[in-house]
Amino acid sequence: MPNLKVIVASTRPVRIGRTIGDWVLARTAEHGHFQAELVDLAEVGLPFLDEPEDATTGRYAHQHTKDWSRAIDAADALVFVMPEYNYGFSAPLKNALDFLHDEWAYKPVGLVSYGGLSGGLRAVEMLKPVLVKLRMVPAGDSVTIFHRESMDIDGRLIADDHLCSAADNMLQELRRLTAAMSVMRVTTGAEKSHLQTAHSFFK
Ligand SMILES: Cc1cc2nc3c(=O)[nH]c(=O)nc-3n(C[C@H](O)[C@H](O)[C@H](O)COP(=O)(O)O)c2cc1C
Repeated sequence: MPNLKVIVASTRPVRIGRTIGDWVLARTAEHGHFQAELVDLAEVGLPFLDEPEDATTGRYAHQHTKDWSRAIDAADALVFVMPEYNYGFSAPLKNALDFLHDEWAYKPVGLVSYGGLSGGLRAVEMLKPVLVKLRMVPAGDSVTIFHRESMDIDGRLIADDHLCSAADNMLQELRRLTAAMSVMRVTTGAEKSHLQTAHSFFK
């Protein structure tokens, strides 16, 4: 069964991201086609990027980067549970992405965004060019949560039919993309060196 990591991209001590991440994890388990795992960036606890070399080299000096590399390498698909902060995506998410490079490549990603009026959609649009650079493919079906409507006063998520079917559609598309893209991740030495040439060319 393919491995799917649900990455919670908000790290504040009081946050709704973890509640939403837990719901996505449970929904993924119910979907039944992935071995799902929650990765909470607050628990991963990466510092601000502190690697001396660019991640495209794959040479990592720090143990926290090696651990992070191993975790993302093991994923066949990802879901980012992402808040909108000041019309953008969160700094911890960008930091976590920048630590690595090839580990993200040719993996599909489902986007579960949340926020006030926009439901995090501005953050999603801002993230997409970053995903293209990393050769990730976002699922067209995503989940948009308007937290003023979807969280009750006790901070629980009101997962109505609309939200549940949005999540199921996203997971279904991720399933198809995961199968299709797994072929692209079989990298021979020659393909890897082609990728590295492409990275340096586009810098
Ligand atoms: C620094 C910051 C900036 C925010 N900017 C936006 C915004 O641009 N758009 C929006 O809809 N909500 C914004 N909010 C409200 C968040 O959507 C809301 O606080 C949400 O709970 C944040 O997710 P979190 O609790 O998982 O951190 C902002 C919140 C914070 C803390």
